[in-house]
Amino acid sequence: MRMYDIILKKRDGGELTRQEIAYFISGYVSGEIPDYQASALCMAIYYQGMSEAETVALTDCMAHSGDTVDLSRFGSLTVDKHSTGGVGDKTTLIVAPIVASLGGKLAKMSGRGLGHTGGTVDKLESIPGYRVTMEREEFLQQVEDVGVAVIGQSGNLTPADKKLYALRDVTATVDSIPLITSSIMSKKLAAGSHNIVLDVKVGSGAFMKTLGDARTLARNMVEIGKACGRNIAALITDMSRPLGHAIGNELEVREAVEILRGMKKGDLYEVCVALATEMIILLKNISQEEAETLVVGAIESGAAFEKMKEWVSAQGGDALWLEKAPAKPAHIVPIISPVDGYITAMDTAAIGSAAVILGAGRSKKDDPIDYSAGITAAVKTGDRVEKGMTLGTLYTNEEAAIQPATERYLSALSFGENPPESNKLIYEIIR
Ligand code: URA
Repeated sequence: MRMYDIILKKRDGGELTRQEIAYFISGYVSGEIPDYQASALCMAIYYQGMSEAETVALTDCMAHSGDTVDLSRFGSLTVDKHSTGGVGDKTTLIVAPIVASLGGKLAKMSGRGLGHTGGTVDKLESIPGYRVTMEREEFLQQVEDVGVAVIGQSGNLTPADKKLYALRDVTATVDSIPLITSSIMSKKLAAGSHNIVLDVKVGSGAFMKTLGDARTLARNMVEIGKACGRNIAALITDMSRPLGHAIGNELEVREAVEILRGMKKGDLYEVCVALATEMIILLKNISQEEAETLVVGAIESGAAFEKMKEWVSAQGGDALWLEKAPAKPAHIVPIISPVDGYITAMDTAAIGSAAVILGAGRSKKDDPIDYSAGITAAVKTGDRVEKGMTLGTLYTNEEAAIQPATERYLSALSFGENPPESNKLIYEIIR
């Protein structure tokens, strides 16, 4: 077999066999196939697409390109969730303890933030003492004892995705639906959970900007999951504005706690209830109504918040800190509305990048993070504002960041005389 022939076949619209795909993945991971040939193949896939059989084969080969996590000791109780990424998306912090309090087993490996989107691992690290690395056996023991453990991606999981993602990032081949599908699903399959709920975000802060693309991606991922024997569903949810009000690590943990303590409702609450409900449907094979009743009950009874405290202390974190007042950075500055009117749209990616300017995220992989930095949005799309009113608040220790972050935030808002048509929060559930 020659890599040249595989590239040529895909370039001309042919369908690759499982053997050809396996040859490419193993050769690329071992270093025998060079980056220039892998990039040519990615570009050919970008233009020619892939059939379902090809995407299944690619995902499967990538999932088995390194270590896999064996969760078989938990039977069919394991459940994972994955968000395609957004701004203010702290749903894992809320959904994981809800589902664990209802008997699910969550052995979760999460990512760090990059670019305008936040990452669960950074949010968890803002809790004093919380350990994001654990030995494999300790990790599994905590899942057994507590029902939930969340750590950073560790070990040699999906090395093919690590190499290919870095390559796609610099060769303009990230936004190819078969390549995104195989990248996300290979990681989920290698992580070992039997039940998987995907949260596919759509809108200005998301990877998928249109409902049509989000739907295709969600359907493809669900099909692949099923073809690989997993119990899987996907929700398509709105990311045309930040989710909830807090953006930035510690601020987001605080908001998650408010939801779990039953102190706050709204869009974040609704998306979390929908995700947790779907996870419980998969786990217990019960109706949507029954599952939702269990989920809401776990919040209202306090069981979910108790589970969060148990989980955080099991991982070395200070559970008492969760109920304390947030740290005050050196500068807490309101953003003032320059006009009267309605907020008609939010450029959510720009809002995420305003939080990065304040220190809440990284521009480069190893940049340090200021956990107390971020933004709280007082108003969002559809709200009426008046000139001089507070639109939101900036939190930072960097005085020089205040002006550029304020400008970025204001540039992200569109104002108009009339309210916009309201967006749906949950567009579709694909089962
Ligand atoms: N997230 C991933 O993990 N992979 C992609 O290709 C895109 C988003």
